[in-house]
Amino acid sequence: MSASVPATSPSVATGDVVLSAKNLRKQYKKPFSRVTVDAVRGISFDVHRGEIFGFLGPNGAGKTTTIKMLVGLMAATGGEATVLGAQVPSPEALGKVGFLPENPYVYPYLTPREFVELCGRLNGLGGAHLRKRTEEVLAKLGIADAADRPARTMSKGMLQRTGLAAALVHEPELLLLDEPMSGLDPVGRKEVRDLILAEREAGRTVFFSSHVLADVELLCDRVCILKKGEVVVSGAIAELLHTSDSVREVVFAGDTTGHEALQAAAPSPRRLGDTTVYEVGSDDALRQLLAAALAGSDLRLIAVTPKRETLEDLFVRRAL
Ligand SMILES: Nc1ncnc2c1ncn2[C@@H]1O[C@H](COP(=O)(O)OP(=O)(O)OP(=O)(O)O)[C@@H](O)[C@H]1O
Ligand SMILES: [Mg+2]
Repeated sequence: MSASVPATSPSVATGDVVLSAKNLRKQYKKPFSRVTVDAVRGISFDVHRGEIFGFLGPNGAGKTTTIKMLVGLMAATGGEATVLGAQVPSPEALGKVGFLPENPYVYPYLTPREFVELCGRLNGLGGAHLRKRTEEVLAKLGIADAADRPARTMSKGMLQRTGLAAALVHEPELLLLDEPMSGLDPVGRKEVRDLILAEREAGRTVFFSSHVLADVELLCDRVCILKKGEVVVSGAIAELLHTSDSVREVVFAGDTTGHEALQAAAPSPRRLGDTTVYEVGSDDALRQLLAAALAGSDLRLIAVTPKRETLEDLFVRRAL
C-alpha cells in the first residue's frame, strides 16, 4: 500500500458508469401510524469506473438509506438504480460488489478468519483459493494476529477491520463502503485510506460515505453531498473547491497578543504553533493589516497566500 499515490486518478474513464441512481426515493412509514419520513427525495448521481467517489451529508441526510437501496437490502419507493449495468436488485451484479455496512455485524462466536471465509464462500470462493484470499485480506487489514479470537472479544475498530476484510475477500470490482473509517484509530484511518487508494490503483471503483472530510478531500475524485435527502453539491473536488483571488491568509511569527491595530484590521485570527494567521478579504484590508503589523513591532511576516477553500468550508456552506 503506497501513500504516494496521486489523489486524482488519471485513468478515470468518465463514460463508463458502474453505479447510477436516477431520481431515487425512499419513504419510511412508521409502523402502526400514518407518519412517514422522506429519507431520500429523488437523488441522482453517476459513479464512473476507476474513481473514488465520496458520499457525504450530515447525520440523517439519507446516506445509509441510499446505500441499502443500492445493495438491494431495501426497496426504493421511487426512481431507479443500476449497479455494474444491472438494475437493482441484481444478485449477479452484487457478487462483484464488496459491501461494508454502517455497523458491520460479525457473528459473535465466529473468529475473523471464520467470518471472512464464510463471506468468501457466500461469494462463490472455495478451496485453496478461498484460504489464500482469507489470509491475504486478514493481513492487509492488520488483523492476522487476532484472526482466531471470537468476534465477541474484539474492539469496535477490530470488528470494522474484519468487516472490511470480508468486503474485499472476493476481489470485487466495486466497493460500497458505509463509513469505512468509523471506529478506527489514526493509524487505522491512514491504513484504510491507503487501502482505498491501492484498490483504485488496481482498477477498482470505490464509493464510500464518511464524516471525515479531511479523508474525503485527500482521497476522492468526485463527491456528492446530501442534505435532508436531496443532493445539494455534486462534482469533481478539484472544481468544487475554489481558490479565492480576493481572500488571503497572512501569517506572522511573534507575539501578537494585545495588538489592537492588528485586531482592528483583521478580527478573529487563529493561532498555529508560534504563528498567527489573519484572514483579509480585500487589497485595502491587506494594506491596513501589513501597515499595522510592521509599524514599530517585532512581528515577522511569514507568508501571504490566497485562501483555498477546504471541503469542510464547502460542507458548512452548503450542507448545514
Ligand atoms: N428504518 C427506519 N425507519 C424510519 N426512519 C428511518 C429508518 N432508517 C432511517 N430512518 C430515517 O431516515 C433518515 C435518513 O437516515 P440515514 O440512516 O439514511 O441517514 P445517514 O445519512 O446515513 O445518517 P448518519 O450520518 O447518521 O449515518 C433519518 O431521518 C432517519 O431517522
Ligand atoms: Mg448512515
